[in-house]
Amino acid sequence: MDKFVVRGGNPLLGTIKVSGAKNSALPCMAAAILTEDEVILENIPQVQDIETERKLLTSMGAEVELGYGRAQHRTHIKCAILSDPVAKYEIVKTMRASSLVLGPLIARTGIARVAMPGGCAIGGRPIDLHINGLEAMGATITQDHGYLEARADRLKGAHIVFDKITVTGTEDLLMAATLAEGESVFENCAREPEVTDLAALLVAMGAKIEGAGTSTIRIQGVSKLHGARHRINPDRIEAGTFLIAGAITGGDLNVDCCEPKHLAALISKLEQCGVKIDVGADHVRVRSGGELKAADITTEEYPGFPTDMQAQYMALATQSEGTSTVIENIFENRFMHVQELIRMGANITISGRAATVRGKTPLQSAAVMCSDLRASASLVLAALVADGETILDRVYHLDRGYEHFEEKLRGVGAQIRRMGDVFGKR
Ligand code: EPZ
Repeated sequence: MDKFVVRGGNPLLGTIKVSGAKNSALPCMAAAILTEDEVILENIPQVQDIETERKLLTSMGAEVELGYGRAQHRTHIKCAILSDPVAKYEIVKTMRASSLVLGPLIARTGIARVAMPGGCAIGGRPIDLHINGLEAMGATITQDHGYLEARADRLKGAHIVFDKITVTGTEDLLMAATLAEGESVFENCAREPEVTDLAALLVAMGAKIEGAGTSTIRIQGVSKLHGARHRINPDRIEAGTFLIAGAITGGDLNVDCCEPKHLAALISKLEQCGVKIDVGADHVRVRSGGELKAADITTEEYPGFPTDMQAQYMALATQSEGTSTVIENIFENRFMHVQELIRMGANITISGRAATVRGKTPLQSAAVMCSDLRASASLVLAALVADGETILDRVYHLDRGYEHFEEKLRGVGAQIRRMGDVFGKR
């Protein structure tokens, strides 16, 4: 398994480019199931989860072409025939977002067999809200040896109020409703930009949707959808990770090709920490404003402070003067990075959903273990300011969601390199 070797101490200087959003690309690729025409998506990130989604769609009979040439980062998907509407466990176990094909498959073919996603490092992450919603739309869903078997002659529009705000739950049901008979009204929806991005693609495919990006979404079902071309949003979590990299190293970093309005909660928090921020149309410049000051965060659904930035922020908090309280409201076990940060010298205590970070503590290099995508990013940020050379193991977690992560960071002065396993295999 690959490792990263990171030598701390360099301020990051220059311009770093943000790739397309993985969490937009995944539902948008699943949306191609809804039509027999070709769907073309641009600004697709070259990350492992996208490759996994390609495998999943191909296994069901779709033609998927992924191109990462200099100009493209484009995928062409054509689900003319879905010969095997099954999301197999071997694929689903490596990426729980595979459950995003459930709604589109039932809507398009009337049948779906999707392996239930297992647990996850950051929490149980059930999909009961997806299932309840599809049943409310007329699907019959049973559990069979670890798989969900779903059938529906034709889904019917429904009025659904989500018990909890769920991003992929909103996306799954939104896709299903586009081909349902009649009107659907969904309340307590997720407002994340990834939902809005998906809705923009669906409308380009002929869907009738109002209210995406707000808590209430109305959909008028149609009988067919057609192909479309759509450009995926920039990845707001990758952009946020780079903003914190600039701040924690005391550098002067221009984060380019991003969407600043998706970063409002993080930018406001970084300014509270004393970081200098200049916001442009499609870029954000972060500079040191002297000593970092402690500030509390509570993760909330969008537009609140994103849970996917909590681990990265905690690394910054170890370098901030004072006590920062970090409350994780979305997932029940999203502090896997804490013990590793403590091993590097951080002073953090956990009580339930709250972590208390006492800073500023000098961080020491160490051998650390990556556990999930964003915890891994947090450890890289800590390593960028640690004294000496930190070895990060199991960086495949990072490869799932960050495109060319080490190359991009090296391009702005980080001392980071990938090391194959001892036998040189990748
Ligand atoms: C999406 O996951 C993202 N993944 C996650 O990003 C992100 O952390 C999360 O939204 C929250 O923003 C993708 O978009 C592919 P949820 P999702 O459903 O949709 C509970 C990353 O790092 N819940 O909004 O799975 C759930 O357990 C990943 O890129 C139910 O109880 O998250 C959680 O506590 C990690 N029943 C809360 O709701 C359900 O049926 C929010 O989860 C669904 C969710």
